[in-house]
Amino acid sequence: MSEKTKKKILVTSALPYVNNVPHLGNMVCVISADVYTRFLKSLGVDVISVLGTDEHGTTTETKALEEGLTPKEVCEKYFKIHKKIYEWFESSFDCFGRTSSKENLEITQDIFKKLNKNGFIRKDILEQAYCPKCKKFLADRFVEGVCPKCGYKDARGDQCENCGALLNATELVDARCKICGTKPITKESEHLFIDLPKLAPMLEKWINKQAVKGRWSQNAKTMTEAWLRDGLKQRCITRDLKWGIQVPLKGFEKKVFYSWFDAPIGYIAITKECRKDWKKYWFGKDVKLVQFMGKDNIPFHTVLFPASLIGTKEGYILLDRISSNEYINYEGGQFSKSRNLGVFGDDAIKTGIKADVWRYYVMVNRPEKADTDFSWEDFQSKINNELVANLGNFINRTVSFINQFYKSEVPEAKPDKKDEKLIREIKDEIKKITELLDDVQLKEALKHIMHISRLGNQYFQETEPWKAVKENKKKAETCLAVCANITKDLSILIRPYMPETSSEICKQLNIKELGWKELGKVLLNKGHKINKAELLFNKLEDKDVKKFKKEFGGKKVEEKGDENPKEPFSKLDLRVAKIISVKDHPDADKLIVIKINLGKKERQIVAGIKKHYSKEELEGRNIIVVTNLKPAKLRGIESNGMLLAAAEPAENGENVRLLSAEKSSPGDDVFVEGIKKEPEKELGFEEFKEIEMKTDSKGHVLYNGRPLKTKKQKITVEGIKENAIVR
Ligand code: 2FM
Ligand code: ZN
Repeated sequence: MSEKTKKKILVTSALPYVNNVPHLGNMVCVISADVYTRFLKSLGVDVISVLGTDEHGTTTETKALEEGLTPKEVCEKYFKIHKKIYEWFESSFDCFGRTSSKENLEITQDIFKKLNKNGFIRKDILEQAYCPKCKKFLADRFVEGVCPKCGYKDARGDQCENCGALLNATELVDARCKICGTKPITKESEHLFIDLPKLAPMLEKWINKQAVKGRWSQNAKTMTEAWLRDGLKQRCITRDLKWGIQVPLKGFEKKVFYSWFDAPIGYIAITKECRKDWKKYWFGKDVKLVQFMGKDNIPFHTVLFPASLIGTKEGYILLDRISSNEYINYEGGQFSKSRNLGVFGDDAIKTGIKADVWRYYVMVNRPEKADTDFSWEDFQSKINNELVANLGNFINRTVSFINQFYKSEVPEAKPDKKDEKLIREIKDEIKKITELLDDVQLKEALKHIMHISRLGNQYFQETEPWKAVKENKKKAETCLAVCANITKDLSILIRPYMPETSSEICKQLNIKELGWKELGKVLLNKGHKINKAELLFNKLEDKDVKKFKKEFGGKKVEEKGDENPKEPFSKLDLRVAKIISVKDHPDADKLIVIKINLGKKERQIVAGIKKHYSKEELEGRNIIVVTNLKPAKLRGIESNGMLLAAAEPAENGENVRLLSAEKSSPGDDVFVEGIKKEPEKELGFEEFKEIEMKTDSKGHVLYNGRPLKTKKQKITVEGIKENAIVR
C-alpha cells in the first residue's frame, strides 16, 4: 500500500440536481467515485463515500411549477428515482442523503454564522436581472449572453462554459432571458455576499500549495487560475426565492441561501446524517478529501466551497484531490428526456443489459480529457469485442476446461520459463494498475486490466491445452493452473468496476471475495474444486441494437439508415393560420382550445402551449398549422390540426416557440422549394413525427437543410437556438 493511501479518505461525488432523471452522462461521476471507493476498500483503507441529491434553488422551483407540485413534492418524487437508479447501478455509497435535510439546514446556517462572526460576510445592494415579461427575478442560470471575459456567445449567467469564468448575470453582454428571450432589466435588492477578496490571501496560498500536492488535473488548475487571475470578487450567497435554507440574519429572513452555497455543505451534512463519527472525517488531520465532479463544477469546489470552510476557522478539511470529467454525448448530440433522446438511468434498467456492462462502458469511455460519445455501435463493439470475446472468453474457457478435463479440480502447476514470463508480465501489470488507480486514472487502469485478460487469452491460445492435454500433460496442467490464478486476479481487479461480475467469477472459482493484497499470489492450488462455468456476458445482437436505437433514438437516429424513397415532407399540408380566439380547455390544465382562420375556412385545434404563451400573445397571431392530420380528440375536445412550434431542452423542461409568418395571409401555402406537395388525406401522427424540421441560427425553419416558406417570406421562429426540433 502506498503512503498516500494509508490515511482515511473521504470520497464525494457531485450531488446531482434532483429535478431530472439522471442520464448516462450524469452517471460518469457517480460511477467513478464508486469505482475509486471500492478500490480503496479492497486495499483496506478507511474510506467513506458520500452522494446525495442537490435539492434547493430555482431548478427545483421551476420544475415544481411545471409539474403542478410543491418543491418539496418534486424532491420527494425525484429523490426516489435517483436513489433507485444509483442502487441499480451498484453504486455503494456509504452515505446517501439530500441537501434539504435538517442536518444541512443546521450546518449551513452554522457555517454562515461563523463566516459572519469572522467578518467574511458583507451586505450589498445587488442589481439583479429581472425579466419584465416573465415578471420574476432571474437566477443567474436563467440569463444567457456574451461572456465579458472570452466573448463566448452562449455563456450562462453564473459561469461561462467556455472559459470557466464565474460570472454574475448582470455582467453578460447582450443578456437575454433564457425562458422567453426578452432582454432582462436590472432591479435592486439587498443581499449577503461572501467576502472573497478578504479571504483571498488564505485561499490563494492554499490553492497554490494544494494544486501541486493534490496533483490537480490541468483542467482544474486552468479553471481555478483563470478565476484567480481575474481577481476574486465578493460573491452573492443569498437569493430571492422561497425554496431553500432560510438566511438566519435579521432583515434577510425572507431570503434563502444560494444553492451553490448550501449544496457542497451538503457533503458534510450527509455524512453527519449517516455517521455518528462524522467529525472524525470532516475535521480529521489524517483525512484526504477526494472529490469527483463534472467540469462545470470545478470552481465551486476549488474556490467557493473551500473559501466557505476556511472562513469559519473551524478546521474543516479541504479538497485534496479533484477528479473532474467532461461530458458524454448521445450519438453526437445532447441527451434530452423530453425528446426521448438518449439512455437515461431508468432506460438502462429497462434494456435488460446488466448494470456491470453499463458500468464498464461508462468507465472505458470515461470522458477525461475531452467529451466522448455514446453510440450504440460503439457500445455493441465494446460488449462483443471486449467483454464477451476477451474477458468473458478467457474466464469461460479456463473454467470450462478445468470442468471438462480435470473433473473440476485445479491441476498442478510446474511453470517453465515461458509460464514464468507470463506470470512476471502479469505482476508488472498489477503493479501498474495499482499505481493508476491510486492516481485516480480509472480509465487507463481498466485498459490495463483488460490487457491482463488479453495476455491470458494469448497464452491459452499459444499453449494449446486442448492438444497438450493428450501430448504433454504437464504443459496443459500448468497452463490451466496459471489461468485459474489469473482468473482469480481478474476477479479482484475488476471488482471495483464490475462488482456483480466479480462475485460471479468467485462463485465459479469457488473462492470467497478477495482483497487487493491477494493479487499475484498463487491461491488456487492442486485439487481446489471449482464450480460449473457460466457465461458472464451476452453478446449484443444487431437486432437488439436496432431496437434500442429506435427506442432511445428520438427522431434523429430512427431515420438513420431507413431509406425513404419519397420525401416525407411532401405528405404534409402546411398552412398559415391566424388565431381568432383562445380558450382554456375545460378538463386539462396544460391545454388550450384555439379557433383559427385558414383563409376560407375556420377550424378548432387543441394545443399544449399554455405555459409558454398567454392568450394575449396568441390572439391575432399568424401561426403555421398542419391541416391534414387525422382529427383527434384531446381530453374530449376535437382538434382539427396541429400548430407547429420549435422546442429545445431548457434548464427545466423545455423552451417552446411558435413558428410564424407575419407577412403572409391566412391560408397561404407553406412549402419547401423543390418538393412537390402530395399531401395525404389523413396523415397519422406517427408518420408526421418522422418528418424532421429544425431551426437554423438565423431563426428560420429547415427541412433537410432547406427553408420552409410561403410565397411572401421564409417561416420564422424567435427566441430559440439553432437545431431546435420543430413539431
Ligand atoms: O451540477 C450539478 O449537478 C450540481 N447539482 C452539483 C452540486 S455539487 C455539490 F456541491 F453538491
Ligand atoms: Zn423572460
